[in-house]
Amino acid sequence: MAVLTATPVPERPAPARKSWWRRPWIGPLALIVLACLAFSLPPYLSLDPAGSRVPQPEGFPAHFYFLVGHVIFGSVAMLGALLQIWPWLRRKYPVIHRNAGRAYVFAGVLPSGLMALIIGSQSPFGPATRVSDVMGAILWIGCTFAGWRAVREHRFGDHRRWMVRSAALTFSIILNRLTGPIAMVILEPQIPTTFGGSEIAYGQSVAAISSWLSWTLVLILTQLWLDRRPAKQPAIAR
Ligand code: HEM
Repeated sequence: MAVLTATPVPERPAPARKSWWRRPWIGPLALIVLACLAFSLPPYLSLDPAGSRVPQPEGFPAHFYFLVGHVIFGSVAMLGALLQIWPWLRRKYPVIHRNAGRAYVFAGVLPSGLMALIIGSQSPFGPATRVSDVMGAILWIGCTFAGWRAVREHRFGDHRRWMVRSAALTFSIILNRLTGPIAMVILEPQIPTTFGGSEIAYGQSVAAISSWLSWTLVLILTQLWLDRRPAKQPAIAR
C-alpha cells in the first residue's frame, strides 16, 4: 500500500526590503528639479540684463544673451534628463525615450554646453572658476557625445553608462546651488584673515569652490555607483 506523504511546500521568501535608493525616486527628484528651475529661470526670462545674477565681464557685451541661451537650453537638458532616466517611461514608451533623447542632446546639452564654454571662459568670477567652467562644459558635452555615439553603434551598455554620467553633470547645477551658500557662510568670518579684507578674493573663492565641487563630486559618486557590485539576488529569483 502506497503511503501518502505530504510534500513540503517551499516557503515563499518574504519580499526583500528595498534599499531607499531603489524605491521610487523619480517624484522627489522631479520636485527638486522643478524647484531648481523655478529659482534659476525667472531673472533670465525677462531678458533684462539688470536682473542677471552673473555680472557682465568687461569687453563682452553679448555675455548676458549667451547666459540666457545657456539657462534656457540647460532647462531643456534638465527636463530631458529627468524623462530619460525614468525607468518606467523607458520600458513602456521607447519611442518617447528616443525622441526625448534627441531633444536632450541637440536642444539641451549641446547648445547649453557650448554657451557654457563661451561664458565660462570669460567668467567674471576669476581664473579658478573659469578653468572649472571650461572643464565642466567639455566633460558635459563629451559624456553626452560619447553616449550618443554609443547608441548609434548599438553599444547599449556603453550608451547607458555615458548617459548616466551626462545626466549626473546636468543635475550638478543642483549641487552648485547648495555648495555656493554653504561656502559663503563658512568663509565669511575669514574675510579679514584668510582673504586679507578683500571681498573680491572672498567672492572668487566661494565661486571657485562651488564650481569645482559640483561637477567633480557628482562624477566621482556616479562612477562609484556605476562600478558597484550587482545586488545579490535571492536563490529563487536566480
Ligand atoms: C556641467 C554643466 C554646466 C556648466 C559647465 C555650466 C556653466 C555655467 C557658467 C560658466 C555660467 C556663468 C557663471 C560663471 O561665469 O561662472 C553658468 C551660469 C548659470 N547656469 Fe550653468 N552650467 C551647467 C549646467 C547648467 C544647467 C543644467 C542649468 C539649468 C538650467 C544651468 C543654469 C545656470 C544658471 C541659471 C546660471 C546663472 C547663474 C545664476 O543665476 O545663479 N547650468 N553656468
